[in-house]
Amino acid sequence: MTKIGILTGSLRKAAYSKKVANELANLLPVRMTPVFMEIAQLPLYNADLDDADLVPAWETFRQQLDDVDSLIIVTPEYNRGMTGALKNAFDVGSKRQNHWKNKAALVASSSPGTIGGFGANQQVRQVLVTLNVIPVQRPEVYLGHVNHLFDDQGLMTNPKTIAFLQTAINAFVSLQSRLKTPADKVAA
Ligand code: FNR
Repeated sequence: MTKIGILTGSLRKAAYSKKVANELANLLPVRMTPVFMEIAQLPLYNADLDDADLVPAWETFRQQLDDVDSLIIVTPEYNRGMTGALKNAFDVGSKRQNHWKNKAALVASSSPGTIGGFGANQQVRQVLVTLNVIPVQRPEVYLGHVNHLFDDQGLMTNPKTIAFLQTAINAFVSLQSRLKTPADKVAA
């Protein structure tokens, strides 16, 4: 069973990014199990505390990262960047050893605004480079006017948006399987 870690950059309960993440998780093939990962409990990274082993929540998060094969990351946009909470999670998971490395990732951003969190999405991609995470290049997923995409039950209603997200998931599944196939099994 392939485990897909699902991360969202928002801490609030009714976050649109969490609804987008749920929708993406529902579109995964059955052989892939979504694992929703919490980042709200992670204190701000401080190397002094890490050196002294003082924050068990950081180690738990790192173990959770080790346990998933690939990632779906849904980021809202705060002041044209990712949220502090998401950046902190990247920092925590990068220390002791890089617990993010060699995973595939689908990056999606969402916003009630028109440009769909483009700035945050690009910033996440920039961080993934140094973490050696391989993102789906295309389609790029920027969901604007996200506040109009869900019904009262939090379900996505627009078939065109759902179909678009399915193409993104298909690209992610294809990248994931290419990355996880041993080199000697790849057809020449
Ligand atoms: C925002 N918001 C926002 N939206 C945007 O498109 N670009 C931006 O730069 C910002 N900046 C920003 C800063 C801060 C501090 C807050 C709290 C909000 C609005 C943001 O997109 C909106 O609140 C979303 O609903 C947040 O995402 P979640 O929590 O719904 O996932």
